[in-house]
Formats: sequence, C-alpha cells, structure tokens
Amino acid sequence: MKALKDKIIELKKEKNAIILAHYYQDKEIQEIADYVGDSLGLSQVAAKADNPVILFAGVHFMAETAKILNPDKKVIVPDLNAGCSLADSCSAEKFGKFVFNHPDHIVVTYVNCSAEVKALTDIVCTSSNALKIVKSIPEDRPIIFAPDKNLGKYIMEQTGRKLLLWDGSCVVHEAFSFDKLIALHKEHPEAEIIAHPESESHILKVASYVGSTAGMIDYVAKRPSHKFIVATEAGILYKMQENVPDKILIPAPSHEDNTCACSECAFMKVNTLQKVYDCLLQESPEVMVDSTVIERALIPIKRMLELS
Ligand code: 13P
Ligand code: SF4
Repeated sequence: MKALKDKIIELKKEKNAIILAHYYQDKEIQEIADYVGDSLGLSQVAAKADNPVILFAGVHFMAETAKILNPDKKVIVPDLNAGCSLADSCSAEKFGKFVFNHPDHIVVTYVNCSAEVKALTDIVCTSSNALKIVKSIPEDRPIIFAPDKNLGKYIMEQTGRKLLLWDGSCVVHEAFSFDKLIALHKEHPEAEIIAHPESESHILKVASYVGSTAGMIDYVAKRPSHKFIVATEAGILYKMQENVPDKILIPAPSHEDNTCACSECAFMKVNTLQKVYDCLLQESPEVMVDSTVIERALIPIKRMLELS
C-alpha cells in the first residue's frame, strides 16, 4: 500500500495534478488527497484550481461540477460508475417536464444531481448552504426543490417556506433505523446525536445538530461533549476522529446490519487507491460534459458560490 501511495504522490507532482477527495472516501484515498472536504468545499477548491489535471475522488456529480467550473481542464475520476442514488432519482427528461409544468417557480437543486438537471436550475445548493440559498429567494416566489425530499422537508421546517418537492432520496441516509438509534442512545444517554440532512425527518428530530459533512466535523471538534452518535456515511469517521482523538464516535445503526453498525455508500466505495493510481497514470477515465450543458449549468453553480 505504501509503495502505491508514494507512486501516486510522485505522479501527481510530475503531472501537476490536484487530487480532491470527499469525506466519504476510504482513509487511504483521503491520505493522498490535496484537499478533503464536503461538496461545497470541494466545488470552491475546484473553482480556484489552476492545475491542468483534476483527479476527483468522490462521485460522478461532484466531478461533473468540477468539470463545469473548469471546462478547459482535464477532470478524471477513478471509476465512472461512482454514481449517486439521489442523482439517479432525477432524470433530466422527467425533471424538465416537471419544471415546464411549473413555470412560475424558482428552481433550486441540491448539488447531488446531474449536469443536465443543473442546466434546468436557477440556483444550486449543498447541504452547507441550502437554508441560506432558500432564504435568499423573495418570499412571494414559489420554489421547486429537487432531488432530495428529506433535505427539502428539513428546509421547509427550518425556514417556514413551502417547497414543491421532487421525490428523491439517498439510499444510505434512509437506511438508518430510528428504533435502533433510540435504543443505542439509551445505552449512551450522554452522547449527542448528529445527523446529515439527507436523513429522514424522525432521525433529524432527535439530533442535536443537523448539517453537512464539514459542519458535523466542526461541531464535534467544538462541542465539549465527549461522545457522539453519527448519522451519516461511515467514511466521515476518519477525519472526524483525527480531529478529536480522545472523543468517542459511534456510527448510527442502519436497518439491515446487525453485525456492523456502519453505513457505507457503495457508490463512493467503488473508488480504490489502485484505481486512483491507474487513473492518474492514464489520465482516464475523463469526465465529459456537453459544452451547451456546461454553459447553462455554470450559471446556477456560480450563483451558489457567490452566495456562499
Ligand atoms: P456533503 O455536502 O455534506 O458533503 O454531502 C454530500 C453527500 O453526498 C451526502 O450524502
Ligand atoms: Fe449519493 Fe447518498 Fe452516496 Fe451521498 S451517500 S453520494 S447522497 S448515494
């Protein structure tokens, strides 16, 4: 493993490439990345990158966002099959009809969607800035929110705004078991429950903090509490624990597993260190986005970045 990491670091220098990785990537990938972050942080760094090659270790919609922000650069990914259940729940064809049928609505989409769906959008948001983005829209304007209905419900509850929701969700965050979570909390009553807003509303109601992956990491570092039950993808535990080596972090239990309490995003986990190396060596597979889609999708992404 060590040799492979060294080879990646050498190759990265040789090609003047930057490696961006999401918090849900395996520890080995996070260790060789130049920047590890949440969706917002990753798009902010991608927007400023001046390297000719950007290797994006995350899922496809994240790499597409980097490509939209850097159309003249080569954006490569370890595996083109790293999708996302949320992005997959919202085809551009169906979403286009939905938007067409509600012409008076402002269209806000969560960044977890395809470039083509972004091209149908007025303003993009991430879990870090969703409340701020929705609050920035004049109160008299009706809003479509897609594709995550759980984040959409959370925004409605927090802002008092009514949103017309798309019926999409994340397979990982919908797998958390409320009953098992409550039972676990009874065993550890001193622990704070923290959750990502893609989780269902009954999970969010019992959380003392709801926020993006970066927000959750910051919260755990700042709070005096010693123990946390963490309701998001298990990859986050690596960076979270690195910041607070003495605190106890317990992954929230999911419906299915009785043996292991961790929830893993199978899409994120198709990326491996070997694939990172191969992709950097061959500068392939490359993420391609149609130039007219780039032109249109860049507008709502830039609006988000300006407001963030
Ligand atoms: P963040 O924006 O918090 O990084 O979340 C991305 C994601 O896909 C969560 O499942
Ligand atoms: Fe998509 Fe869910 Fe995986 Fe995040 S955790 S990338 S929302 S499937």
